[in-house]
Amino acid sequence: MSPVVELEDVRKSFGSLEVLKGVSFSVERGQVAALIGQSGSGKSTALRCMDRLETIQGGRLTVCGHALHEPGVKLSDLRRDVGIVFQGYNLFPHLTVAQNVMLAPRLVRKMSKAQAKDRAEQVLARVGLAEKLGAYPEQLSGGQQQRVAIARGLAMEPKLMLFDEVTSALDPQLTGEVLRVIEQLASEGMTMVLVTHEMEFARRVADRIVYMHLGKVHESGGPEILTRPATPELARFLEAA
Ligand SMILES: Nc1ncnc2c1ncn2[C@@H]1O[C@H](COP(=O)(O)OP(=O)(O)OP(=O)(O)O)[C@@H](O)[C@H]1O
Ligand SMILES: [Mg+2]
Repeated sequence: MSPVVELEDVRKSFGSLEVLKGVSFSVERGQVAALIGQSGSGKSTALRCMDRLETIQGGRLTVCGHALHEPGVKLSDLRRDVGIVFQGYNLFPHLTVAQNVMLAPRLVRKMSKAQAKDRAEQVLARVGLAEKLGAYPEQLSGGQQQRVAIARGLAMEPKLMLFDEVTSALDPQLTGEVLRVIEQLASEGMTMVLVTHEMEFARRVADRIVYMHLGKVHESGGPEILTRPATPELARFLEAA
């Protein structure tokens, strides 16, 4: 079976600044990959390319069977298969929790209101927020808002979930709540790519660690590379983390 995500020599520049300088790695079905590395090393850019929020300029990038390096990708098809969650929750403040979660299933999947409501109840229960259906985002803690954002991604029943530093705006207790949800998804077999600064979490949950440095994959392997890095750059990064 082909990987869910496959990058082969992916290149991406912003103007004259080359940010991804030939990045290659793949993620198999059911695997969790953690992207780690210094600020500016290209982690978010790599993740955004996987949801076609950025276009690539070279190499090959296949996500859930969609060849993103080829012209004519149907974005609506890609977005059905991929859920993405960012550091900021980006919830609509004037909509309830349930309405926020129902939006994409209604618009993209053309679900009836009743179907979308059922789906919202189901995914909100999965993230431990069954009782918050009618609340507005401002009535929730940061950790709860982030869990709503995860539920919104799950509501599309994606084949792949992408997470970019989803806990970096949260205090330690709220971080724990959100990480537990992600860990639960991992145990249920969800394929995921997460950009994280939480090294303990990465060690525990990720099957594969991808260390990015200066726009390239500098070192990758199982979680053991966090304990026994092969390159001095990763060793130094871990000491500072
Ligand atoms: N839209 C953009 N326009 C111009 N430059 C950009 C853009 N997005 C990112 N960059 C540049 O690309 C480089 C990589 O950025 P990226 O956000 O991928 O890094 P990162 O590894 O996610 O860092 P951090 O850990 O700080 O989030 C940086 O030098 C950044 O300034
Ligand atoms: Mg980033």
